[in-house]
Amino acid sequence: MSRIGSEGEDIIGRWSEEKLDLLANYLKAYSDIMSNQKTSNNPTGKPWLRAYYYIDAFAGSVRPRAKADEERYVEGSPLRALQTEPHFDGYWFIDVSPRRIERVERLRGEFPDCVIDVRQGNCNEVLCNEIVPQLSYASKQRAFVFLDPYGLQVDWETVRELANTRTCDIFVNFSVMGVTRLLPRDQSPDPEVVAQLSKVMGSTEWINQIYQIPTEYQLDLFGNQESSPNRETIRAEWLASLYTEQLKSLFPHVSRPVLMRNSTNSVLYALCLASHNQTASRITNEIFNRYERLKDLGR
Ligand SMILES: C[S@@+](CC[C@H](N)C(=O)[O-])C[C@H]1O[C@@H](n2cnc3c(N)ncnc32)[C@H](O)[C@@H]1O
Repeated sequence: MSRIGSEGEDIIGRWSEEKLDLLANYLKAYSDIMSNQKTSNNPTGKPWLRAYYYIDAFAGSVRPRAKADEERYVEGSPLRALQTEPHFDGYWFIDVSPRRIERVERLRGEFPDCVIDVRQGNCNEVLCNEIVPQLSYASKQRAFVFLDPYGLQVDWETVRELANTRTCDIFVNFSVMGVTRLLPRDQSPDPEVVAQLSKVMGSTEWINQIYQIPTEYQLDLFGNQESSPNRETIRAEWLASLYTEQLKSLFPHVSRPVLMRNSTNSVLYALCLASHNQTASRITNEIFNRYERLKDLGR
């Protein structure tokens, strides 16, 4: 979870920095491959791609502070994208907060060579109404969309519209914690909660399954204080794989999820890539595997 600093900037934990490193690693690989598709230096031998874009649907405060050392500023996702070489043909930055948007606007001055488009508003609306219509398959353009909400702000309908373009890949930071918080411990959720979960997950059939999980897991699912880390992992993995299975109904290639944990080892989010390209999900899995190997070595 992030806090807000006095200047309205996020204060982020170690795991958020790791998320940003994973993003930067993938963006580098994506941009290398896509820039080749604009030249004859690709397997088809012909340039077929007109342009490729980075879309940050939750752009954030640009330079959040590190929780461990609040004097230290971290480069947020818009900066990670703008610093990626080769450059994207354009950058769309969206945030609902006018204060955040002011910070994002200043990036035009810092990166005068980059084509930057800034939109303030709910990203579900901006993506579906303003951006998706510009990215038809016939347009020969591609886009990488980073979906990095605090909680359950990404509508499943938006994910569906992005998938239907066949031009947009998504890198999504899914809030496992946001879902578990909505689920009551010992009874099925109220219809309003079911509607809320359906809006985010696209289906609610799984809710009944949760209440049929063997009791030992169920206790864990609802935050039994005495549960072992291993059992907590089972719960988080279950929800993360549920979301990635849902994504597979819309995208042909979905990476495995990587679980992002806070300093007390609780799972907060699951990060994964959903793509129209097999190489993209393979590269993401390689990046995630390397990250987990290094983390294991550091433990
Ligand atoms: C986790 S922060 C983003 C951090 C950023 N991606 C980074 O890594 O540096 C979430 C951001 O989403 C914004 N936000 C919340 N709801 C939104 C919505 N529905 N549409 C667009 N932005 C939203 C918040 O103002 C906040 O800046």
